[in-house]
Amino acid sequence: MNALINDIEVIKTKTTKINDVDFDHLSFGKTFSDHMLECDYKDGKWQAPKVVPYAPITLDPSAKIFHYGQSVFEGMKAYKDEDDNVLLFRPLDNFKRLNISSKRLAIPELPEAYFMEGLKALLKVDSDWIPKKDGSSLYIRPFVFATGKGFHASPADEYKFIICTAPSGAYFAGKVKVLIEEKYSRSANGGVGFAKAGGNYAGQFYPTQLAIEKGYQQVIWTDDNTHEYIEEAGAMNIFVRINNTLITGPTSDRILDGITRKSIIELAKTEGINVEVRKISVSEVVEAAKNGSLKEMFGAGTAAVISPIAGFGYKDEDFDLPELENTYASSLKKRITDIQTNKVEDPFGWRYNV
Ligand code: PLP
Ligand code: COI
Repeated sequence: MNALINDIEVIKTKTTKINDVDFDHLSFGKTFSDHMLECDYKDGKWQAPKVVPYAPITLDPSAKIFHYGQSVFEGMKAYKDEDDNVLLFRPLDNFKRLNISSKRLAIPELPEAYFMEGLKALLKVDSDWIPKKDGSSLYIRPFVFATGKGFHASPADEYKFIICTAPSGAYFAGKVKVLIEEKYSRSANGGVGFAKAGGNYAGQFYPTQLAIEKGYQQVIWTDDNTHEYIEEAGAMNIFVRINNTLITGPTSDRILDGITRKSIIELAKTEGINVEVRKISVSEVVEAAKNGSLKEMFGAGTAAVISPIAGFGYKDEDFDLPELENTYASSLKKRITDIQTNKVEDPFGWRYNV
């Protein structure tokens, strides 16, 4: 799909909201920038994308998103360096993954130019919304959903692609305690776990609420078949450090192919860290916690970057992780955010100057 795109129409807001925002105290994903990109699929093709003022949208009550959950999304971040260059991190990987997700949900795939040029046009209009403070960024949420009408349980004939953005601070404040899940699953073989489908997250909320009631913040998802293998941490990929080896599970039908995950694997290797991509059993982690060889566990994803895990619960037992001074989590987080924000060289070609 190589549809080209001419100039993107930009309809600017008459009143900016930017003066109401306290950029020194940003929470995550609660304040929205002035504009959004909007693009409709109808008559069998994607129509020209437009930048428009951020505003509510009107949908027919029979729109298939409400009934059959045809919706996929992405999560990305924009940063500004010291010279006010606007930077993205591996944005083509997000574009490709959005289409992988769309295909699985029978949603028409987007042309690359609509995504990339649309995103660039949006960032140009709202560049003042990109925070410069360390630890803050402009969180970008591209999403596609079914607007086509009807109760027939079949793919819609109309869709909307929107990108909206939110100046954001940290996703989690501090370390999190997690519960290893023994009953519920977020995904299954042949299912949609590898896609960023909205419904995957809805299905996680109830088990996560149960974990929160027990005093944990997140669930560690295990394989749906046996619940013996660790797969993901909430909406993040998971890494476990046993002695000096960093281990993460292989991607599959059930696990999202995270951009942070694959970047960390490469970065860790260049730092001389021994990395293994293989299945991690719960019993191996419990055993390592008991004999002291479990040094770190952390989640990895765009929103949270790297989120260290303080301890985990499993079968009514709690295990604490040691408080180390120099962790892989902190050195890898510094390296990846320094690359993202243009503080260090990027030998991988991951940084994308807008
Ligand atoms: N796993 C799940 C289920 C996610 O929702 C995310 C978030 O995007 C990730 C992993 C991490 O992926 P990425 O690093 O590409 O943001
Ligand atoms: C991200 O890390 O960007 C995600 O999409 C996770 C999200 C559910 C906040």
